[in-house]
Amino acid sequence: MRDLSHSLPRWMAALALVASPAFAWAQTAPTPEQMQATRAVTGELLKTLSGKLQASMKENGPAGSITVCKTIAPEIALGLADRTGWKITRVGTRVRNVDLGTPNVWQRKALAHLNADLKSGAKPQTLEWSEVVTENGKPTLHYAKAIVLQPQCIACHGTAAQLAPGVADKLRTEYPHDAATGYAPGQLRGAVVVSRPL
Ligand code: HEC
Repeated sequence: MRDLSHSLPRWMAALALVASPAFAWAQTAPTPEQMQATRAVTGELLKTLSGKLQASMKENGPAGSITVCKTIAPEIALGLADRTGWKITRVGTRVRNVDLGTPNVWQRKALAHLNADLKSGAKPQTLEWSEVVTENGKPTLHYAKAIVLQPQCIACHGTAAQLAPGVADKLRTEYPHDAATGYAPGQLRGAVVVSRPL
């Protein structure tokens, strides 16, 4: 005769799990709409920042644009975070702003994936990496959009010889722990990272 004393409770537990709303709603992948909205926000950050930086470079030169970068970049990210309720920031493969730009464990993993993809020929414009992670019992989308160095970035992120006049001095005072120089165009500079509940 079958002994139901062990199998029955397990069977009932399984039923309870299937019937629970948490199980029914657990999302393991973002919907196309969620993905599109996430991409749109990172695109907006990059576009707004690049517009403001270009305008300031023309008007104030590279050394005069460092403080612009320092105020504007976090301001744009915070504005978008306020609007969406998501966490949004820029992180670096080597970091200038230690407080805002240092990648956490997931972000370091994302940067490693982006770097490997870039090296194996992925297009910088569309290079991204994401993962759904359960946090406090809720599915959360972690998303990273690659930031690849452009020729116009070397005035502030290139080798010592490539930095524009006055930039090295200004960086020493504004960012005493700066590690974000010595980059060449085409290298992975960092990522815009978003963390949002699904
Ligand atoms: C005028 C100088 C200047 C130029 C030009 C410049 N940056 Fe930066 N960059 C900065 C400063 C200053 C910071 C630190 C901003 C802050 O405090 O959040 C920074 C930070 C960053 C960060 C965030 C991670 C970190 O290290 O703090 C990324 C990513 C980045 N820059 C990429 C780029 C790219 C890509 C370009 C070219 C398209 C570029 N930058 C051009 C000055 C510059």
